[in-house]
Amino acid sequence: MTQIPLPELALVALIGASSSGKSTFAARHFGPFEVLSSDQFRALVSGSEHTLDANEAAFSSLYHVAARRLERGLLTVVDATSVRAEDRRRLVELARAHDVLPVAIVLDLPRSVLDARHEARGDRPFSEAVIGRQQTDLRRGLRGLGREGFRHVWTLRSVDDVNAAQITRVP
Ligand code: GTP
Ligand code: MG
Repeated sequence: MTQIPLPELALVALIGASSSGKSTFAARHFGPFEVLSSDQFRALVSGSEHTLDANEAAFSSLYHVAARRLERGLLTVVDATSVRAEDRRRLVELARAHDVLPVAIVLDLPRSVLDARHEARGDRPFSEAVIGRQQTDLRRGLRGLGREGFRHVWTLRSVDDVNAAQITRVP
């Protein structure tokens, strides 16, 4: 079982391809106001979670709200794929700017699981090929997360791993 001791003063990046279970994990382990989801921000600024050209507005809004929370010392979880290094760099910079620890929880599930979930839910307007690319990007960057500035990195590699993970808050 993976025990995840989480510092209270942290910016937590939940990292994983679409359908890896980030939002499910977030809802299970964190309070609703602690979680900033890119889908939710896309919906807030554009009316739909899936408006493709709303990314810029959605992420600038998400970073803004994250900054306001961190300056109050509130633990903040970012629920976005963050499979590309340049996306993660923004999060590390944000954490550093507010003197909080950037930490990563990575959901790196087998491709077969991602594909099955994607097909079962059918609410994502992109193909399984997109998820494959996200997974490739993620795996390419995984070993470098520490070097990117994440102070703690926890990687969950199976459904059982994800379901058994426990988070404890440490002062
Ligand atoms: P995006 O928002 O598209 O990036 O995906 P996500 O990483 O937030 O995944 P999400 O939590 O939405 O989960 C994707 C699908 O898998 C949903 O239909 C969930 O209900 C399902 N799911 C998530 N976790 C589990 C799990 O542990 N077991 C099972 N059986 N289904 C799960
Ligand atoms: Mg989600």
